[in-house]
Amino acid sequence: MFSTSTPLIPTIALLISLIIILLFAPSFLPITHRKSPPIPLADELDDLSLFTRATRRAAAKSRLGTTNQNPKIAFLFLTNTDLYFSPLWQLFFNNHSDLYNIYIHADPTVQIAPPSGVFEGRVIGNLHRTYRGTATLISAARRLLATAILDDSSNFYFALISQQCIPLHSFKYVYNALFGTDSGSIVLDKISFIEIKSNESILWDRYNARGKRVMVPEVPFEKFRVGSQFFILTRRHSLMVLRDQRLWKKFKIPCINVHSCYPEEHYFPTLLSMLDPKGCSSYTLTRVNWTGSVNGHPHTYYPSEVSAQLIYTLRESNSSHSYLFARKFSPDCLKPLLDLSEEVIFKD
Ligand SMILES: *[C@@H]1O[C@H](CO)[C@@H](O)[C@H](O)[C@H]1NC(C)=O
Ligand SMILES: *[C@@H]1O[C@H](CO)[C@@H](O)[C@H](O)[C@H]1NC(C)=O
Ligand SMILES: *[C@@H]1O[C@H](CO)[C@@H](O)[C@H](O)[C@H]1NC(C)=O
Ligand SMILES: *[C@@H]1O[C@H](CO)[C@@H](O)[C@H](O)[C@H]1NC(C)=O
Repeated sequence: MFSTSTPLIPTIALLISLIIILLFAPSFLPITHRKSPPIPLADELDDLSLFTRATRRAAAKSRLGTTNQNPKIAFLFLTNTDLYFSPLWQLFFNNHSDLYNIYIHADPTVQIAPPSGVFEGRVIGNLHRTYRGTATLISAARRLLATAILDDSSNFYFALISQQCIPLHSFKYVYNALFGTDSGSIVLDKISFIEIKSNESILWDRYNARGKRVMVPEVPFEKFRVGSQFFILTRRHSLMVLRDQRLWKKFKIPCINVHSCYPEEHYFPTLLSMLDPKGCSSYTLTRVNWTGSVNGHPHTYYPSEVSAQLIYTLRESNSSHSYLFARKFSPDCLKPLLDLSEEVIFKD
């Protein structure tokens, strides 16, 4: 009797807990999703001081008339996990140390594997917590821009990259595509590569995500834009972003409608299309597959999908530029991607 009933107790306990979880799950889940506290004042002040230092330093430098002999690309890695594809990026960066810098913003509340190789020591100093679907992602991108501006006056292009991004070409190809070095000397009259779209059906809900009439007068609906979070900005545009306080004041307001809350997809395209539309490509060079997207996430590629043909397909674009980067890839794609690196990805 005793021996038969003991295994039953844990089973019943398990069943009861399962029932409780199932009953309450719908009310648990939205809580984590809704978690978008306002940005703490201390973080705001810390950022403001960083951004002001960056813009002042840049202004002082330009008064001195410094010219860039060898402009660099600043790769800004925005992550809240390990940098899954760092071995692939390491191969990408090999032998070009004079033409790039790396900066990493990792969510400070998450323990990530210490970055090694070219990534070692590249985590920036000013880090604050990031939450999906909140303006904290805008702040993190701006911190990366400011740190890169302060760090090296040769940083000319600023490419925002996530841990799920991969390169689609060699470094040399990327550099030449951006600086157009084929024509001989480098002319630094360049455009930013940032997606800017206006006629998307989602725009009205996104515009009102913080409440009705909240965005005016700074951001009238006609000026509200959407685009990919992952951009490549020129130094001039990066400084515009760091100087902005007018639009930021609106975009930082926490959302009421969390289902339409993706501030990082709107702030940069809206700001730059208001300040310098002609200076922007309006398309992104980071390929993303929105077919069959779920819950605001684009298609994630798994190892079974990785092939030479996929890389070739992802490069194809309708603009005059090939795509340079692509997302999102699951971490276990590293091995098949490394297998393709020499013969496919970095061969162009
Ligand atoms: C790149 O550097 C590695 C060592 O880091 C070296 O073995 C390789 O030959 C170099 N490749 C080129 C193309 O210079
Ligand atoms: C958006 O506008 C562009 C240019 O005005 C047009 O080519 C495109 O077809 C429009 N897209 C949609 C979905 O309406
Ligand atoms: C985009 O994702 C869909 C699945 O959601 C897949 O069927 C399609 O092949 C992908 N397109 C490319 C170009 O990889
Ligand atoms: C290029 O444009 C065509 C026609 O609008 C479209 O079907 C195709 O998906 C586009 N390709 C890419 C890579 O955006």
